[in-house]
Amino acid sequence: MRSLQGLKVIVSRALSTAPSTPVIATKHPFKVDLKAGKLYPWCSCGHSKKQPFCDGSHKKAAPGLSPVRFTPTEDKEAWLCGCKQTKKAPYCDGTHKQSYVQNYTLETNQ
Ligand code: FES
Repeated sequence: MRSLQGLKVIVSRALSTAPSTPVIATKHPFKVDLKAGKLYPWCSCGHSKKQPFCDGSHKKAAPGLSPVRFTPTEDKEAWLCGCKQTKKAPYCDGTHKQSYVQNYTLETNQ
């Protein structure tokens, strides 16, 4: 049987290697004008202060997460996800309308 101290070490190691999860940055998508051929880094962690794009905050706030880089093939208007819960990153898929997003208490004023 393992000692309590042994279990604490095992749990601590498991938690320290657990992947980061995104935080809800906003409860709405961002309307953006995208340019063909330009590389965009969409923030997937939710910590960036330059939403919906990456500012490098994931390196300290969410190790293990990285931005979704994408390059549009045509100039277009798009809705990029701000809640970071979409299944079609970087684009909004409507997940932000769900109650767990709308009832979430944001860390900053929006
Ligand atoms: S803003 Fe995230 S799914 Fe719409």
